[in-house]
Amino acid sequence: MVWRLDRLLSGWQCRTMSVLWVLLFASYVLFFTYVRDSQHSCQPHLPAAAVKWGSLWPTSSSTAAAATPTNLSHIVFGIISSLKTVKTRKPLIESWWRPNMTRGYLFLDKAPPETDESLRCPSTCPPIRISEDISHWDLYPKFKHAVQIRIFRTILDTFREGDRDVRWFVMADDDTVFFVDNIVELLSKLDHTKHHYLWGRSESVGSNAVISFDMGYGGAGLVFSYPTAEVLVQKMDGCIRRYPEAWTNDGLTYRCLNDQGIAVSTSFQKGFHQIDLHDSLAGFLSSHPQAPLLSLHHIELVDPIFPSKNRVESIHHLMKPAKLDQSRLLQQTICYRKEMNWTVSVSWGYSVHIHESPLPRNILQHPIETFNPWRRKDRFPKFMFNTRNVSRDPCQAPHWFFFESIEENSLEDEDTIVTTYTRARNRGLSPCVLAGNHSADHVNRIRVLSPPKARLEAGGVECCDVLPVVAEKETATTVRIRPCMEAEEIVL
Ligand SMILES: *[C@@H]1O[C@H](CO)[C@@H](O)[C@H](O)[C@H]1NC(C)=O
Ligand SMILES: *[C@@H]1O[C@H](CO)[C@@H](O)[C@H](O)[C@H]1NC(C)=O
Ligand SMILES: *[C@@H]1O[C@H](CO)[C@@H](O)[C@H](O)[C@H]1NC(C)=O
Ligand SMILES: *[C@@H]1O[C@H](CO)[C@@H](O)[C@H](O)[C@H]1NC(C)=O
Ligand SMILES: *[C@@H]1O[C@H](CO)[C@@H](O)[C@H](O)[C@H]1NC(C)=O
Repeated sequence: MVWRLDRLLSGWQCRTMSVLWVLLFASYVLFFTYVRDSQHSCQPHLPAAAVKWGSLWPTSSSTAAAATPTNLSHIVFGIISSLKTVKTRKPLIESWWRPNMTRGYLFLDKAPPETDESLRCPSTCPPIRISEDISHWDLYPKFKHAVQIRIFRTILDTFREGDRDVRWFVMADDDTVFFVDNIVELLSKLDHTKHHYLWGRSESVGSNAVISFDMGYGGAGLVFSYPTAEVLVQKMDGCIRRYPEAWTNDGLTYRCLNDQGIAVSTSFQKGFHQIDLHDSLAGFLSSHPQAPLLSLHHIELVDPIFPSKNRVESIHHLMKPAKLDQSRLLQQTICYRKEMNWTVSVSWGYSVHIHESPLPRNILQHPIETFNPWRRKDRFPKFMFNTRNVSRDPCQAPHWFFFESIEENSLEDEDTIVTTYTRARNRGLSPCVLAGNHSADHVNRIRVLSPPKARLEAGGVECCDVLPVVAEKETATTVRIRPCMEAEEIVL
């Protein structure tokens, strides 16, 4: 009991002292209010530009503009980079950046040497800016991870550029690849005058469990409607003051938005990919969720996504189908070749699988586990989705074909896009005897015909037919993607 009395006593003493202090210094404090306010040491110095915010706010989201549909010109991208990474990642940014179309900036931590010509790219990548230097802040020594604070504040740096008619801010890393047609399509369906924060989570259970299942991972891309960005940039330095120990910038964004009472957990988008994965993404990209592809991150940390191409070549290769039809990119369409008992699964613009047995759609939608979780040692459950094991069973293991080329409106197939996929390697297995012993070893090429004009609606499912072959052991197989018929059942 003694210690309790002690504590009470000291508490009482403390309160008494406080009261005395207040009484004694009340007049002093009142007198010097002006002086103290300008020197308050708990607050980081507000950057000079902040004072002028009122006049710097771009006049966006005006009611006049609200009626027109959202297009690419209404989006500003803020790409977070550094002197260390920008050179190797510039080609990744160039793969999706549209010269004179996309708006945005690339933020470096320090100014590059003026003599460095390698960073010059007049219109093929975003103009370079330098993040605001915060090293003089009183709070700076308290930052456990000053880099993360800089990255967190990039949306403020972007906002201050003062672009006009901005409806959306899209923030990401320099190793994020965006699919901008699909992003425009997504944003055009939303009201940019309301609060929106759109995001993707980590694919690895372990990462989400450590930080949050409801948080947007920065590399996947974070999307803010104008009003949400406006609140965030006004409040962000206050959030930094509250959480100087923050160790991830995206975690800080999540905390800060949460503190403003903005609903953060509702706008998870299945097409944003943090790619917290290692090794081969082939299985993941061959069974993409039925949702438009929005981004791919960590391209440098995973294997090249196409065989016999390097990482940068691979991404530029994927951009060929992306340029003609992003709505179908990686969208999975499944059909069967009855007389052979084959199951064909197309991941448009990326791969085709032929299985020598009839497999149901719900199994094929589970990616083949060609990849590992972010923390390699994690055990089940490793991923935020179901997977299939890599199998050596001839009835389960597919024949793999990868995207080779694309042709639009060729003479023989007018008004059709033709994508061609070629065999990666021999499967090295005997045929599936249980399903009738119908080997697909002789097939080397697959042509997929798809409609060119009509975009596939987000989340939409299409059907396909394997076209009849002329000769028994034809090395090329043709698949035609078409709208599903009324009440069509996709089974063998
Ligand atoms: C985008 O919309 C604006 C109107 O808000 C319009 O002036 C502009 O021409 C459009 N741009 C494109 C590329 O369609
Ligand atoms: C972009 O615009 C600049 C200046 O207007 C022009 O010089 C350049 O050729 C354009 N680039 C492309 C790829 O259209
Ligand atoms: C997949 O492989 C792992 C490790 O080899 C094994 O423990 C697991 O049971 C397999 N899962 C299925 C569904 O076969
Ligand atoms: C397809 O496979 C089933 C077993 O899964 C078998 O009963 C059937 O005969 C096979 N059909 C053909 C055409 O081989
Ligand atoms: C399967 O077909 C191959 C020829 O393609 C044949 O050599 C083999 O004996 C067949 N296996 C069975 C179990 O029928």
